[in-house]
Amino acid sequence: MSKTAQRLVQAAIEAAKTAYAPYSNFHVGAALLLENGQIVTGSNFENASYGMTLCAETVAIAKANSDGQLRAIREIAVAGGLAGHVGTGAEPITPCGRCRQIIKEVADLTEADIPVHCAHATGYETFTLFELLPHGFGPASLK
Ligand code: THU
Repeated sequence: MSKTAQRLVQAAIEAAKTAYAPYSNFHVGAALLLENGQIVTGSNFENASYGMTLCAETVAIAKANSDGQLRAIREIAVAGGLAGHVGTGAEPITPCGRCRQIIKEVADLTEADIPVHCAHATGYETFTLFELLPHGFGPASLK
């Protein structure tokens, strides 16, 4: 287990504490590692019109972008679970399909595969974006 990934997973678990999820009660945190070592976090943000919900990963990536750091994203950690149980499931919580597509944008822009560390009860499992979304459509497809 890498120290950086562990630190990132911890930041994701911490970020889940700011989740606004009164409808699902499922709290998710995401943490992005930037090339300069800084961490940007996000949490899920639900809405009474359920389908408008923003996932933690999407919030974190949009935050990084609005700080001018979209191309600086190198690694991602995700932790989720019912309130009070974030990161404690036997299986890792992996990004939903829409978030995989959002992460794909970063992978294509940086021309790098992005490790995604997904928290579970005894640590985390790392998948690369290309494993999570093989043959995906992205900015490079438009060239
Ligand atoms: N959720 C995320 O924040 N990220 C994911 O990748 C999966 C799902 C959120 C959306 C919703 O607020 C709650 O988890 C239950 O689906």
